[in-house]
Amino acid sequence: MPTLARLMESEARPLVLITGAAGYLGSVLVDHLLRAGFRVRALDNFMYHQASLLPHFINPHFECLVGDVRDADILKRALEGVQGVVNLAALVGAPLCEEREKEAWEINYEAALKIDELRDRASQWYIFPNTTSGYGTRSPVEGPCTEDTPQEPISVYGRSKVEAEGELLKSDNVVTLRLTTVFGLSPRMRLDLMPNDFMWRALRQKTLVIFEGHFRRSFIYITDIARCVEHVIRNLDRMKNRAYNVGDESMNRTKGELARMVARLTGCYVHETEIRKDPDRRNYFVSFERIRSAGFRTTVALDQGLEALYRGLRTLHWTIPYANVEYY
Ligand SMILES: NC(=O)c1ccc[n+]([C@@H]2O[C@H](COP(=O)([O-])OP(=O)(O)OC[C@H]3O[C@@H](n4cnc5c(N)ncnc54)[C@H](O)[C@@H]3O)[C@@H](O)[C@H]2O)c1
Repeated sequence: MPTLARLMESEARPLVLITGAAGYLGSVLVDHLLRAGFRVRALDNFMYHQASLLPHFINPHFECLVGDVRDADILKRALEGVQGVVNLAALVGAPLCEEREKEAWEINYEAALKIDELRDRASQWYIFPNTTSGYGTRSPVEGPCTEDTPQEPISVYGRSKVEAEGELLKSDNVVTLRLTTVFGLSPRMRLDLMPNDFMWRALRQKTLVIFEGHFRRSFIYITDIARCVEHVIRNLDRMKNRAYNVGDESMNRTKGELARMVARLTGCYVHETEIRKDPDRRNYFVSFERIRSAGFRTTVALDQGLEALYRGLRTLHWTIPYANVEYY
């Protein structure tokens, strides 16, 4: 039986719904929000059979629903009594969405709008992650990409996210976060993210072959995403109904710079070649002025994050199945 004190403590903690909670970002975010004093309700279909949320079942402030965000009945149950929702459930990445295009639109776009329709827009906030890859066709010489820069995504993944964001920003009590390429360690590891992939290959293959090393990209360590979501929840009234680029200008780096940082840690050989083109044409410089003005700053520098990644993967790379990707 729960004690009265425990019940009272539970009542005082805001309840947050996280869809896709068992994923790469979700499993780090669940842990972060529980520690930050929230109650968390997770909803995920566990499509990767991931065990990433198991440690939280001992925590009375954690609950978990197994289900699909395309199912309106489970969404209604999931939204009951929550203060807001962080909707991370998605088919993520260009290759997966090309392969499963119909599902990508159903999950990344239609379900994202269904959640908006089913929540109480006046009292339940909605945080939605988008990607900065929509800025991909804009060259750095045209100046930094702000939130007002037109987004022109080229992949099904990018289009489904950008179009969902566009609709959600017409609603109320919404914040959309345009995340740069996230990297780092998570209970559900992803190796189809450029820094993670570079580190894995450097450790396993001892060589990094890179194309178009001058292409500029932008990175952020995974724990800073969790901190950012908490920051948005705590500052929703002044941040709402806008999109924010999430990252830091110091992490706008070229692929070549990233590869050389990985090489300094691992001792791998970097081979830069122009015999092939990077299938992912992204080459941009992102401005983070808006999120900084809203009071958020990242805390993990690129070299620090890479060192954590190095220490983790050096020890455990053999436990993680490799995703052979050509673009991220
Ligand atoms: N990681 C990044 O660099 C990055 C960058 C920009 C945006 N995002 C966005 O952040 C979110 C999370 O990405 P991630 O990197 O954690 O990817 P991920 O694939 O690890 O997480 C997605 C989660 O959603 C779940 N899921 C998939 N389809 C579902 C469905 N139909 N119903 C319920 N759950 C379902 C999966 O099981 C998984 O746990 C996504 O919306 C993604 O578009 C990520």
